[in-house]
Amino acid sequence: MIYLDNAATTFPKPATVWDAMDRFARNDAGNPGRSGHRFAAAAAAEVEGAREEVARVIGAPDPSRVALCLNATDALSMAFHGILRPGDHVVTSRMEHNSVVRPLNALARAGVITLDRVPNDATGVVDPDALAASLGPATRLVAITWASNAFGTIQAVDAIARAVKTHGALLLLDASQAVGSIPVDVARVPVDLLAFPGHKGLLGPMGTGALWVREGIEVDPWREGGTGGDSTNPFQPAEMPHRLEAGTPNAHGLAGLRAGCRWVLERGVAAIRTHEQALATRLLEGLRTAPGLAVQGPADADARTGAVSFTLAGFAPHEISSVLESAFGIAVRAGLHCAPEAHASLGTFPAGTVRASVGPSTSNADIDALIEALGALGAGAR
Ligand code: ALA
Repeated sequence: MIYLDNAATTFPKPATVWDAMDRFARNDAGNPGRSGHRFAAAAAAEVEGAREEVARVIGAPDPSRVALCLNATDALSMAFHGILRPGDHVVTSRMEHNSVVRPLNALARAGVITLDRVPNDATGVVDPDALAASLGPATRLVAITWASNAFGTIQAVDAIARAVKTHGALLLLDASQAVGSIPVDVARVPVDLLAFPGHKGLLGPMGTGALWVREGIEVDPWREGGTGGDSTNPFQPAEMPHRLEAGTPNAHGLAGLRAGCRWVLERGVAAIRTHEQALATRLLEGLRTAPGLAVQGPADADARTGAVSFTLAGFAPHEISSVLESAFGIAVRAGLHCAPEAHASLGTFPAGTVRASVGPSTSNADIDALIEALGALGAGAR
């Protein structure tokens, strides 16, 4: 089987990820920070180790500003509910995943916030000047995806961040498709909040994710409860990361995330990016000549991630993904990719597209097999 659905979750994970989880689960898995014995201490060290590695990948100088959570959706909801107040204006784009779309729509429907969506061009790129023009006196937050999960489009986050900073609003980037796949450095880009999963570019297991919060910004806790610290305090502790981390964490998963981050750091995000860009270029070139095939999103691999969306004349996207699996042994994702507005803005709503997405383990042979299969399918349809 050829796996080309790395934008959904990277597969396979490095063996070190499962080894770390196995070792931790069998030997050390006390409840982190809750007790004084060696199991609890070892688990706390594992969790803090994961926090440190995550901070290293994103260039965050202070690991305590990394709140570990379930996934990017959890991190994004934590940011929206912890930052936004009645009367706030929020600016977002049409390229967002439902993890941004739905909580913001719900807050707008409840009358808590007002919401504007800046348009994008035909490849999904948001114009930073149009975004700047949409910022008003009540704008408190700009929430934008760094890279589209549906089309791979990478946004001009430096220019967007400059516009948001000039205005004085906060910038939240959904870095779900960026962290671990393209260079992300919060010391360089003036982003305020960064939400991302552990199970995609960081190669960790599902059920892990993080919200990084720049120093000086306080996100109110969305979930409150035990932190293993000062139990006499009747309120959630004010300091990060406990402020945002109530309840027993997914320490088993975090042991794996720590190992995934180490793998990424050892190989280097720049090298991963080079590998995935070369694969994307190979795929884009191969698809250009395939009969009946149309690629959506940027034509140039420099402007996109390794998530490549396409349609094939004569076939519904779900038909293609089904035949690719049953006849050619290739796993891709078809449909709207939980990003219906992004598809609407690129003209592929409601059927969506087929998305093939590469990862660190993808080879040239995998790409060639997909190109060949699509060529055979397209030729058969004529
Ligand atoms: N958000 C993930 C995807 O794009 C699940 O497939």
